[in-house]
Amino acid sequence: MENTNKTIKFHSGENIPLELHKVRIVQKLHLVPIERRLEALNEAGFNTFRLDTKDVFLDMLTDSGTNAMSDHQLGAMMIADDAYAGSQSFVRYQKAVEEVLGKKYLLPVHQGRAAENIINHAFVRKGHLVPMNYHFTTAMAHITQYGGNIEELLYDEAYVISSKHPFKGNMNIEKLEACILRHGAENIPYIRMEASTNLIGGQPFSIANFRDVRAIADKYNIRLVLDASLLGENAWLVKQREEEFKNSSMKEIIQTMTGLADLVYFSARKLSSARGGGICTDNKAIFKELQPLIPLFEGFLTYGGMSVREVEAIAVGLYETLDESMICQSPQFIEYLVNALDSKGIPVVTPAGVLGCHVDAMRVCAHIPQTEYPAGALAAAFFLISGIRGMERGSVSNQRDEEGNETYADMELLRLAVPRRVFTLSQIKYVEDRMTWLYENRHLIGGLKFVDEPPVLRFFMGGLAPVNDWPEKLMAKFREDFGDSL
Ligand code: F0G
Repeated sequence: MENTNKTIKFHSGENIPLELHKVRIVQKLHLVPIERRLEALNEAGFNTFRLDTKDVFLDMLTDSGTNAMSDHQLGAMMIADDAYAGSQSFVRYQKAVEEVLGKKYLLPVHQGRAAENIINHAFVRKGHLVPMNYHFTTAMAHITQYGGNIEELLYDEAYVISSKHPFKGNMNIEKLEACILRHGAENIPYIRMEASTNLIGGQPFSIANFRDVRAIADKYNIRLVLDASLLGENAWLVKQREEEFKNSSMKEIIQTMTGLADLVYFSARKLSSARGGGICTDNKAIFKELQPLIPLFEGFLTYGGMSVREVEAIAVGLYETLDESMICQSPQFIEYLVNALDSKGIPVVTPAGVLGCHVDAMRVCAHIPQTEYPAGALAAAFFLISGIRGMERGSVSNQRDEEGNETYADMELLRLAVPRRVFTLSQIKYVEDRMTWLYENRHLIGGLKFVDEPPVLRFFMGGLAPVNDWPEKLMAKFREDFGDSL
């Protein structure tokens, strides 16, 4: 794969993330008036997951399934081999996994959480504990579903919002060993490392740290599982931030990372493509143990619940992950947005990570208690004044404990996802502009309360309501300042 990533300097000295692609298929967007946006919020129970895209201008909910596809991916989708069993599309997927991720055995699944279901079905029993750098919502829900529990073992600096630490996703090695000694290695089915730790702001871990985790896993004979859903960007940040790898190729970095894990799984909705998933390993015994679960839960072993067209797109996308001029795009746009907001004093997670820009709702909405969900309130307020849909990543996204008590999140973040090669710089500047206005008017944002709370993964479909008429007041201020602007 051609290595094309050179920093392109502007004569003006400005640090601008230059698009290294051209747009050839476009989708028209609509920015509806703020009065309609308030109606839409009411219809959606103040939950951005429940908004219709017809009311959304910039969809920054997630990068999952929304990354731009390349011409090569779309081309490959046209030549996919439709077959229930033995599809050549799967053979190409397998080859890509072997050549890019360096793993021989591949089990296809329809998305990341399907991999989590298979892995936890096979390995987790009541009383088990899974240590991890940090949880992801679906990973945790599947572990607890099978009777297990989790322990999060980050270093303290991971929770510092405004930081210069290059690897906030690192696992705390001393805590990991103490945790194993406390619970007994026999009760720990695997250690989970999440590349570009999602819920703390898309923060990477270093290979040096991953090697230390591997050493502990070896010492206590525990499996090491890598959630590789955001592996490409983690690997790219390793190249930028870890001295040992500054001259390494993406392939070398990726394979050094996957080579340290016994089992690698991923959401291909994020890694490489826009649909699908996979589980891969070099360990034949693990492969054989998981294999029968694929036809049971997903579909035959050569499609795993995906259309063969999706399978082709994943295969091509995996090779494209090695292209630095592609993989750098999302992190560079995120860095631009993070630095722009940070320079105006708006609290955001730093250093810029992957996936999106994360605004610290605990500080922006310091006047809203955690019981009234500051990150959910900020997500709703930001949609109201901009038409931009972000995602609450705070206490609404947490699950209640076994006794049914609220567990408040370590961080209350509004995540503004920047899917790969989807938005232009002027759209990013619009995000910056509206967030700046909202920050200046933050005292007008109020809290939310649940009116309809589902028992599992409540953030997806839960219904909330504002605690008073703050949305109307915020809308009035918007009209005062922006006149009849959309
Ligand atoms: N692991 C990580 C680190 C993820 O970010 C996700 C999904 C999954 C697993 C589950 O994969 O959605 O394909 O079932 N993250 C999406 C997000 C939903 O918006 O961050 P999935």
